[in-house]
Amino acid sequence: MSDKIYIFDTTLRDGEQSPGASMNLQEKLRLAHQLVRLRVDVIEAGFPVASPGDFECVKTIADQVRDVEVAGLARCNEKDIDAAWEALKGGEQPRIHTFLATSDIHLRHKLRMSREQMLERAVAMVRYAARYTSNVEFSAEDASRSDLDFVCEVFEAVIQAGARVLNFPDTTGYALPDEFGEKIRYLVEHIPSIDKVILSVHCHNDLGLAVANSLAAIAKGARQVECTVNGLGERAGNTAMEELVMALRTRADRAPFHTDIATEQIYPASKLVSSITGIHVQPNKAIVGANAFAHESGIHQDGVLKERTTYEIMNPADIGLTKGNIVLGKHSGRHALKRKSEELGYSLSDDQLNRVFARFKKLADVKKEIFDEDVEAILMDEVLRIPEAYQLLSIGVMSGSNSLPTAAVRMLVDGEEKNGAALGVGPIDATFRIIAELTGTTSKLLYFSVSSITGGTDAQGDVLVRLEDNGRVVIGQGTDPDIITAAAKAYLNGLNRLRYLASEEERRREGAGPAIS
Ligand code: KIV
Ligand code: ZN
Repeated sequence: MSDKIYIFDTTLRDGEQSPGASMNLQEKLRLAHQLVRLRVDVIEAGFPVASPGDFECVKTIADQVRDVEVAGLARCNEKDIDAAWEALKGGEQPRIHTFLATSDIHLRHKLRMSREQMLERAVAMVRYAARYTSNVEFSAEDASRSDLDFVCEVFEAVIQAGARVLNFPDTTGYALPDEFGEKIRYLVEHIPSIDKVILSVHCHNDLGLAVANSLAAIAKGARQVECTVNGLGERAGNTAMEELVMALRTRADRAPFHTDIATEQIYPASKLVSSITGIHVQPNKAIVGANAFAHESGIHQDGVLKERTTYEIMNPADIGLTKGNIVLGKHSGRHALKRKSEELGYSLSDDQLNRVFARFKKLADVKKEIFDEDVEAILMDEVLRIPEAYQLLSIGVMSGSNSLPTAAVRMLVDGEEKNGAALGVGPIDATFRIIAELTGTTSKLLYFSVSSITGGTDAQGDVLVRLEDNGRVVIGQGTDPDIITAAAKAYLNGLNRLRYLASEEERRREGAGPAIS
């Protein structure tokens, strides 16, 4: 049996550090359950001391999510470690992940510490964390730009203090693959107690090399890789989990290692992350991009039709992409829709199925062909549903080259019907103005984008907005064959999220538990 590579998923922590990728408790919990379906070994759920919201997310995930280790991040100080343990202690397999930088650049300019002080602090804090749990991971931040003999000294000392996993991050994404692999080999050869622990790597993608560096590290002895779904993360992101896992699986001839990842859950996980964060995957992204298995040139299409492996090194079904087995249309029933949803990685409750079915039927009335992407858009909307204080009942617009753009909206605000009309620079501007007036929102629109889900003039419009109110930033998404309606839905979805976040914060202040569906 080949060596196992442990997958430490940090989408909920480093991934959330992507600009604009913040997630609320309900979304984090949903993603954590999907990560369990993916069978990752460790979920890094957050940084408990960072804010009460972060603390609550880590605690809820630790308390409720089973069959996986749950880690919480802590700097090397007692307050952080206490907060991490307080959040994690109800969990089945808690891990404290504590870190301190080892590079002279960080020691001198950021921490203002000598190497001796750093070593002393790291040992003391690993020992402190180990009083809570034997499952302690220590990370040497900026390790790849640190003096390697110093890292070896620190790592040996923290092993003696009780660390079980040692993480060697390329914090700034500076390393090159052969160099990074050599550093890992050096650690393996120069840390006397290395065989007592798991050596881990955590690579950033500033030079586009995070996956390559992680693979080079595995070849030289790393056995845990820290990564994120879709490669999300600080700045240019982290090692993309799906790329690393599929590289190991596809090239087991050259890289004889395995992971426990249920690869058919990769595509649903990728979709879930992009729908929660609003950060779409670029079409040419490896493994999960829309074009990753699309063949455009005639020669390639001909080859694939004759024999798939002529141009496909992976089977799309292996990542959960099982397009085209069931084709849905106007006459499809509830059962076919349920099967299609399962094919796309969603297991629906009866209530969710009813709602998805109602929307599917409405769409099928106006759109001849229902593609998988259309069904997915409805699924994501319904599965990630939040309470709807604002609901659109109807919308009518007037626009054109010779008329003043006008929008008339009828909607429910906390169950009460309201309506009104407004003028605007264009029909979407008019729609947003009247919705703002009817809801009384004080939020600011930070970002607006519109794209089409599939090709053709009957394709559904997919609108994404980012809103800010009182320091809270949310995304809103809406899909509809009519782009003005899609825009109105996206705006209302964002406003509903803002209301939900505000009420959750209120509930927390009053000391009640979260209202999670
Ligand atoms: O990039 C980094 O060094 C980190 C550490 C906290 C592991 O995210
Ligand atoms: Zn990082």
